Amino acid sequence: MALTPQWLDELRARVTLSSVIMRTTKLQKAGREWKACCPFHNEKSPSFTVSDEKGFYHCFGCGAHGDVIRWMTDQRGLSFMDAVKELASEAGMEVPRADPRETEQAERRAGLHDVMASAQEWFKNNLLADEGRKAREYLAARGLDGHTIERFGFGYAPEDRKALKKALARYPEPMLVEAGLLIAVDDKEPYDRFRGRLMLPIQDARGRVIAFGGRILERGKTDAPKYLNSPDTPLFDKGRTLYNLHRAGPASRKTNRIVVVEGYMDVIALAAAGIEETVAPMGTALTERQIELLWRMVEVPILCFDGDAAGQRAAMRAAARALPLLRPGHSLAFVHMPAGLDPDDLLRKDGRGAMDRLLAEPHSLLETLWRHESNAQPLRSPEDKAGLKERLMAHAESIQHPEIRALYKRELGDRFSAFAFPKREFVPRKDWRAKLSDKRSNAPSDTAGLRRARSGARDHLTQAVLAGFARHPHEIARHAEALARLASAAGETAQAIDALLDASEALEAGGGSPISALKVVAPPPESTRFSFLVEGTDPQDAREDLAEAVSLLVERPALEAAIAEATARFEADPEGAFAEQQRLRKRKLEIEVRLGQMARKRAAGSALEHGDTGAPAGDREQETE
Ligand code: UTP
Ligand code: MN
Repeated sequence: MALTPQWLDELRARVTLSSVIMRTTKLQKAGREWKACCPFHNEKSPSFTVSDEKGFYHCFGCGAHGDVIRWMTDQRGLSFMDAVKELASEAGMEVPRADPRETEQAERRAGLHDVMASAQEWFKNNLLADEGRKAREYLAARGLDGHTIERFGFGYAPEDRKALKKALARYPEPMLVEAGLLIAVDDKEPYDRFRGRLMLPIQDARGRVIAFGGRILERGKTDAPKYLNSPDTPLFDKGRTLYNLHRAGPASRKTNRIVVVEGYMDVIALAAAGIEETVAPMGTALTERQIELLWRMVEVPILCFDGDAAGQRAAMRAAARALPLLRPGHSLAFVHMPAGLDPDDLLRKDGRGAMDRLLAEPHSLLETLWRHESNAQPLRSPEDKAGLKERLMAHAESIQHPEIRALYKRELGDRFSAFAFPKREFVPRKDWRAKLSDKRSNAPSDTAGLRRARSGARDHLTQAVLAGFARHPHEIARHAEALARLASAAGETAQAIDALLDASEALEAGGGSPISALKVVAPPPESTRFSFLVEGTDPQDAREDLAEAVSLLVERPALEAAIAEATARFEADPEGAFAEQQRLRKRKLEIEVRLGQMARKRAAGSALEHGDTGAPAGDREQETE
């Protein structure tokens, strides 16, 4: 099709931009221009202007900008050609065609559109008729309301091999076959494809019916597939279509979000719950073309997958498909549903709030790759570790964009090193009780030991707790056992803990001073505001907070060990190990959050930090293993 710039200029000149925009957006006259609240972002006072003279709209708030064609693609969600065609038909202009074969194909498609519209009409009427009773009961049993049934155009195909053929006899039979409504096998009479099924129209970006999905009403009765879809036709290319795109596109402009789910019924359930910006591929993995369609609407579409093994594999397939296509700002995000529940099930079971919570915290693409690969196999040997590294780097290598590829390599490499070689070397240490009774000396005097102790305790929270004990040395004895356990797991920290125990011992013996104990540990970072580090805290509060911080600190390495253990058990008992991991990770996250809250709490009497939610800044990263 040959569209010249001149022809497009003529098209722009013939349609009045404001009259097109006015159909969906309320405009107010402002001098020679028009004003409105911007349809591309949420706002209360109008910063969106339309100039018919210049032929442009512009938003001073979000920067949305374009001509009438751009409006049709960006606000209405049409493809460029569809936008041009729709505008041309309004302007009474003929879209130039270079090729007579294209003209013929276009005419054929127009004919097929009529066929599909008539079929949809017929299916809908069947649902309302006597024969549709079972299908109506099925819909009611699934809790679908009349408004949703109407909006999504549910219909019914009767249990009859000739019903549609007869009802649409006004169309030539070969056309019904080409539209995918009849099946023609060799020498046999063509017969209805959809029989005894609940029918769902599949529409293109302009809302025209291009295919159908038909759901069986009863399961188990036959071995027929649950859903039967139209075959690919001149109108329908499965890999280029997203179910519900024509409604989700405009809705996504308001929320700046697109949710991708696996099934038709998930889309419909989400829409019924008020989440309109949802689409689904048709029973296949997302294609490159579909990812590109999604990226036209938002930069980071959210993909929902079942939490079970099959769902995880599907997520990885989508991730692998997207990697070569990544470009700056564009990515995918992943939500893992609770195992065995699709979004429709979850909404029914736990309501919209549960879905909103999941959608609010999706995992990034990189996170998803990392989790999948690092959990795939236990890391028992150097070979295992090399295998993990190789799989991670292979993912990164598949990224075409050089900058993004380099960043993925670096981030995955860092995560690999921290995971495969954790800084947790075991420092043998004499039993603390023995040590306490062995020593009879006063305050510590070994300055080299002191310096070593200061350089330890890299972990800020450990550091804060140690500093807390240095400030409150009378508390040390009470927590000596917990401290000793921490020392055995924490390498360098052990030296600081040794020194603290020494100081405590000296105190108990009636000598030494808190001042000397204070020198033993490095000062905690300024940002930590544990009550026990702040001047003027009520001593009782300080003691309680210190005790809680110690117990959380002790629990943390134990949890890490348990997580590692569950990971190692993965092969033998995947389901059990997975559940265990989930539980342990959740607890770990709770600990991090609680520690974060405590670290930010100010001393009693001082003002609360405003807008502080209590979650530590690095919360998301900390969730990772
Ligand atoms: P699901 O079985 O998850 O769909 O299949 P669903 O929408 O949740 O179905 P309900 O809730 O049981 O009614 C996901 C998608 O895979 C395709 C369909 O597009 C379906 O929406 N599919 C599934 C098929 O094409 N054929 C099938 O036999 C099954
Ligand atoms: Mn379902």
